[in-house]
Amino acid sequence: MNKKRLETLAVQENKEIRTTRPHILPIYATSSFSFENIEEGIDVFSKPEEGHLYSRFANPTLDTVALKIAQLESFGTDMDVFCLLANSGMSAIHCLLASQLKAGDKVLTHGNIYGGTTELLKKVFSQFGVTTLFSDLNDESHLAQLMKANPEIKLIYFETPANPTLACIDIEKIVAFAKSHNVLTVADNTFATPMLQRPFSYGVDFVLHSTTKYLNGHGNGLGGAILANRKHYDNLWAHYKLIGPTASPFEAWNLNNGLKTLALRMEKHSSNALSVATFLENHPNVDFVNYPGLPSHANHEIAKKQMASFGGMLSFEVKGGFEAGKKFMNELRLCSLAPTLGNTDTLVLHPASMSHLHIDRALRIQFGITDGLIRLSVGIEHEDDIKSDLDKALTSQ
Ligand SMILES: Cc1ncc(COP(=O)(O)O)c(C=O)c1O
Repeated sequence: MNKKRLETLAVQENKEIRTTRPHILPIYATSSFSFENIEEGIDVFSKPEEGHLYSRFANPTLDTVALKIAQLESFGTDMDVFCLLANSGMSAIHCLLASQLKAGDKVLTHGNIYGGTTELLKKVFSQFGVTTLFSDLNDESHLAQLMKANPEIKLIYFETPANPTLACIDIEKIVAFAKSHNVLTVADNTFATPMLQRPFSYGVDFVLHSTTKYLNGHGNGLGGAILANRKHYDNLWAHYKLIGPTASPFEAWNLNNGLKTLALRMEKHSSNALSVATFLENHPNVDFVNYPGLPSHANHEIAKKQMASFGGMLSFEVKGGFEAGKKFMNELRLCSLAPTLGNTDTLVLHPASMSHLHIDRALRIQFGITDGLIRLSVGIEHEDDIKSDLDKALTSQ
């Protein structure tokens, strides 16, 4: 007979369960890990890579998914890349920058990155003595001048393609430039994903993701990923476990489900977006279209060089500017007006009043985020249904 009392039986974990290996990744919903004895505890605390301690530091569900993303991002290189999963793209960016910057340092970036990242730099990191400079990162002579005038530049931060103008940065060139000035490089690869572009193959120091977007792909969770060469592990992990941006095991598990169809989705997003971009470019009520796959795009050659295909994101302006754009968005029936991207369904957003609302107007306009610009995250529906919805909304003007 079991000697334990009812209350104890209800509380205690049953350690007796035996099973074979699960086929699908389980969710390790545990905050902590227990040890057989104090010696094992001391051992794992001194060598955390040999076991798990506490889920803010690491968790088997997270580790499994992180390893998969590291393998994807380092594919085709012989680099030993690790990945840390965060609970949002923003917390991943924050943790990475906090691990690399100190008071007095300067960050060089471009003015058409995700609005939240610009705000993080300008409003949060500025409080800790970090200054942010903006430049066209493809303009080598301006970069050289900036570097000369600002020897405190520690890190170059870029998105390619960028949110929401789809500007592309020549990764090979910016990395060579940064290395020649002993400056670190960070690439936010959210728009392209490792299926289309792998910045490590050009020698970037860090890769970031909002996994909320294409890596998850279904719009049902938040997450971020920080990736780097193993030599950065100790410093980054020390910050990660102290700041605590760690993803939840459920979100990591959910992300893993999305990753399984990433290759298929990116192929379809790309072919649909090219078709939609071509349609919009030829529409009489559209002023211009930004899509890296169009020969008319200012950075088409750069995109061709570093991307396998051009992804699912585009932006455009309706003739008649902001007022016409507002009318257009209200007429859409299939496409949803939602402030995210990378879902299976088509999403539309107005950057000036949504994702880039808090960005200085002069800065956003200088970098192409005009008042009338509309961002489209082209989904994987039938391309004709997307085009038909856009056409109806455009011609109702
Ligand atoms: C390119 C890019 N990076 C980072 C982020 C921030 O990600 P999250 O919303 O997951 O915090 C976003 C959000 O839209 C983004 O578009």
